[in-house]
Amino acid sequence: MSEPVARVVVEGADLAPLAARLGVSHGTAGAVDLALRRDGDRLVLAGDPTRYGAPLAVDFVAGRVAHRRRFGGGRGQLIARACGLGGGVTSSVVDATAGLGRDAFVLASLGVEVLMVERVAAIAALLEDGLARALADPGTAAVARRLHLARGDATRELAALVARGGVAPQVIHLDPMFPHRDKSALVKKEMRLFRALAGDDGDAPRLLEAALDVATHRVVVKRPRKAPPIAGPAPRHVLEGKTSRYDLYVHRSLKG
Ligand SMILES: C[S@@+](CC[C@H](N)C(=O)[O-])C[C@H]1O[C@@H](n2cnc3c(N)ncnc32)[C@H](O)[C@@H]1O
Repeated sequence: MSEPVARVVVEGADLAPLAARLGVSHGTAGAVDLALRRDGDRLVLAGDPTRYGAPLAVDFVAGRVAHRRRFGGGRGQLIARACGLGGGVTSSVVDATAGLGRDAFVLASLGVEVLMVERVAAIAALLEDGLARALADPGTAAVARRLHLARGDATRELAALVARGGVAPQVIHLDPMFPHRDKSALVKKEMRLFRALAGDDGDAPRLLEAALDVATHRVVVKRPRKAPPIAGPAPRHVLEGKTSRYDLYVHRSLKG
């Protein structure tokens, strides 16, 4: 597994319990560290802005994710088709690479119960915070109630995480990090921060194996459109979008 390269320091007296729960240092971040701190009502992760751009937070209530919920194309969009939502029979998805929860939120907004699995403690903390705010907002509470979070490494303990998470693994969704996936400057900085935390997910082939063991119906893998599939068994189907693609590994039909 690729190890995260940046040190995260939790700042703020009120966040000492969070630091203890995450098992990361509590104090004042140095120039090269990333700081997890409160900014108004949100938890943010911030680094040197010239390198990492604006602080990162999970926001399901406003911004990109909320916009996509309203105007995103429903069950016709690529992720929905990949997860088999078109047929209306998928009721639960495990997103084993949750990240900032954008894909998971799209799935939950389409009516699916989603278990989000995230192994980087600081990212899981952002997700937990974003989820709490979404639960408190009347506009997003119903969707947020379908989102469940498990902190842990899906490559090493997917079956146990799924058993504890209480969401059936009909479909397992994977979106591991991939180098140079978007050229826009803004996303580049956000990706830099993300990569500094998450590494490059070099264990993706083992994650795919674990997902194939645990999924009851299919595993779907999001890739940049031109990227090779994850090393391992060949996908049964490929769905191509404008910038990304889904590789589908099918155990059995979702209709059966
Ligand atoms: C490219 S991001 C996913 C972005 C996500 N699809 C979204 O919509 O925000 C990949 C994330 O998966 C996490 N990850 C990768 N491998 C993992 C594993 N084996 N177990 C848990 N989390 C993993 C990384 O830490 C990172 O946060």
